[in-house]
Amino acid sequence: MISFYKKKVALVTGSAGFIGYHLCRLLLEEKWHVIGLDCLSNYYDVNLKKRRESMLLEYENYRSIHKEIQTPNILHDIFEAEKPNLVVHLAAQAGVRYSIENPRSYLESNIVGTFELLEASKRFPPQHLLIASSSSVYGANTSIPYKEIDKTDNQISFYASTKKTTENIAHYYSHLFELPITIFRFFTVYGPWGRPDMAMFGFTKAILSGEKIDVFNHGNMKRDFTYIDDLVQGIRLIADKIPLLENEACYREDSKSSVAPFRVVNIGNSKPEKLENLIIALEDALKVKAIKNFVPMQPGDVYATWADISLMESLTGFKPRTNLNEGVKKFVAWYLREYGGNN
Ligand SMILES: NC(=O)c1ccc[n+]([C@@H]2O[C@H](COP(=O)([O-])OP(=O)(O)OC[C@H]3O[C@@H](n4cnc5c(N)ncnc54)[C@H](O)[C@@H]3O)[C@@H](O)[C@H]2O)c1
Repeated sequence: MISFYKKKVALVTGSAGFIGYHLCRLLLEEKWHVIGLDCLSNYYDVNLKKRRESMLLEYENYRSIHKEIQTPNILHDIFEAEKPNLVVHLAAQAGVRYSIENPRSYLESNIVGTFELLEASKRFPPQHLLIASSSSVYGANTSIPYKEIDKTDNQISFYASTKKTTENIAHYYSHLFELPITIFRFFTVYGPWGRPDMAMFGFTKAILSGEKIDVFNHGNMKRDFTYIDDLVQGIRLIADKIPLLENEACYREDSKSSVAPFRVVNIGNSKPEKLENLIIALEDALKVKAIKNFVPMQPGDVYATWADISLMESLTGFKPRTNLNEGVKKFVAWYLREYGGNN
């Protein structure tokens, strides 16, 4: 892959997380020097984070730092010492439901943490800063597929509100300090080394132990499930598409700001699947029938997510390759290796 970077030094926040781990591996294989920053928060199984990190530490071009990003001066000092030219910001308090219970952790990690990152980037500008946002910022929008240029003013969870807030704050920094920033909005990412708080993991665990699974909104929900390898390939491709201040001749519905080197892109599979299809794929892969408990919609959840990925495709040629059945098989194979059939 042609690189547009002067040197290959990357800072990845949230490096022991699900997406961070996979992205770090890809960068390390491309011989980037990677600094991984993660506080190993206890939101879910810390051992899983440590296992991911231990695999990254096998690369000699990897270094890990365990700190909270919102701690004043931490990021400033890392930027000053390392001067990363690619920064991928994935550290966040994730999860829609938990944001009802513990909103302060979202305020601190997502808003204050991103503010600290932007302040450090202002002092020691990377060539490109990429920041993770979420499909949940489309909130109460009913027009699908979601396009980056759609209005995103009506979030319905605190998690989504913090993600939208960071998008707005980032635009200001990009505008005033000419910082090249790409925001990516992810759509229900899954795969090996995935998150225990997400449905695919929880369903698998419950099905194997013969427990009931809660099927929200009676199964009448759709998600644009995105396989992890497709997602990190997408991140890598867009990392080379550094937004410019001047208006670029580009795709008709580009989200590129007219006053800043700033763009928002969706990275999804663009094939929404019914929750029911996920359960069928899991039953097939596990060769066990699920016991379903149909329950109403959860507060903060949306009925459907569906990424319009034409902007991403026009900028990078991105095409997701993994369909739900194949991706679920790979997830299940990993789960069985990691946790065995009985839990
Ligand atoms: N996985 C998805 O489906 C999905 C969908 C949309 C958006 N996202 C976004 O993508 C990013 C990565 O998500 P993920 O699925 O890998 O989640 P994850 O929880 O597995 O990873 C996040 C990592 O950040 C770390 N972290 C949290 N708060 C921190 C802090 N204050 N300081 C330092 N480290 C901190 C955690 O310990 C964790 O390892 C997040 O920003 C998330 O909001 C994920």
